Amino acid sequence: MTESSNAIAPIPGTAEPMRCVVVDDEPHLRRVLVRLMKGDGFSCEEAGSGVEALEALARRPAVLVLTDLHMPELDGIGLLRQIRIRYPDTAVMLITAVADVSTAVNCLAEGAMDYLTKPFHLEEVRARVRQALEKRRLILENRDYQDLLEDKVAVQARRLEELFLASIQSLAEALEVKDPYTHGHSLRVSKYSTVIARTLGLDAGVVRQIELGGKVHDIGKIGVRESVLNKAGPLTDDEYKHIMTHPVVGWRILSPLLTDMPLALTVVRSHHERFDGRGIPDGLAGLDIPLEARIAAVADTFDAMTSVRPYRPGVPLQATINELRRCSGAQFDPDVVDAFLSALDSGAIDRSEIGEGSTAPGLLAPMGAR
Ligand SMILES: [Fe+2]
Repeated sequence: MTESSNAIAPIPGTAEPMRCVVVDDEPHLRRVLVRLMKGDGFSCEEAGSGVEALEALARRPAVLVLTDLHMPELDGIGLLRQIRIRYPDTAVMLITAVADVSTAVNCLAEGAMDYLTKPFHLEEVRARVRQALEKRRLILENRDYQDLLEDKVAVQARRLEELFLASIQSLAEALEVKDPYTHGHSLRVSKYSTVIARTLGLDAGVVRQIELGGKVHDIGKIGVRESVLNKAGPLTDDEYKHIMTHPVVGWRILSPLLTDMPLALTVVRSHHERFDGRGIPDGLAGLDIPLEARIAAVADTFDAMTSVRPYRPGVPLQATINELRRCSGAQFDPDVVDAFLSALDSGAIDRSEIGEGSTAPGLLAPMGAR
């Protein structure tokens, strides 16, 4: 194997050196090609087999490999396959006798750029090499362009998602203006739900939807009268029914916006379902209630209890925990309650961030959030 020239010119229009490897077990044929390629400004390395050619490429990459089909050790087809895997940017041209043209054509399907037939007509070789390199340049340019496009599309998709989340966030803020007692509630429900989902080992995409679902779970309260929303005393049956329309109202508001986040939408609709089937709006029971909603139900009730509400003070933390345990299996999915309590024990839920009323003495309120 010999290096036939050290003068390396760049490929016109690029910074790539014009390096090629000529592979043939017949030294005479190699030299004919090398002379030709050098005459065209290439730096050439010669190899007597596919194995030697791979060694040459490992030492220094080349833009072009001209290889014979029949060689000892590793033949031209085997070399082509290896180059496609290891050096996909290197163009491969096969050198073949006329009798082997059908094999060479098959090699095009395996990624060869072109083939040359022996005996060589030098002008033809020159023209085919130029064509092959031009084809390679276009392929690489096209790939770079695709990569650039994909990057641009990804940036735009991220921007769209940010804008989308901002519009949802402004809806949530509109609700907070109307119902100051929900201030911080949705964010805490989102946090607790996220921790529960992670504790249960759910995957990142699901956790993201649950996080969003928590932030917007009560959005339907926008449709509830303020006099009912902020009523200090107990609600009448009609008022309670009115306020409990919020899961379906929220689901209707967000349905067109959350088509790509169906789990977040389920949280909105089903966070007041109960494990025993006595919840609203669909009266689903047990595992028929989607997991994301079973998670949100525990997070929502925990935060509603530990926070100060217009109709009652906050419930102390230990009393809330006791109540969650008592209602596990009736109102709540026991696995979700266990996950929540273990997250509380492990510190995954920061006790200092728990709702503002949790340390205040208070009466044990009826279980559940309005
Ligand atoms: Fe709710």
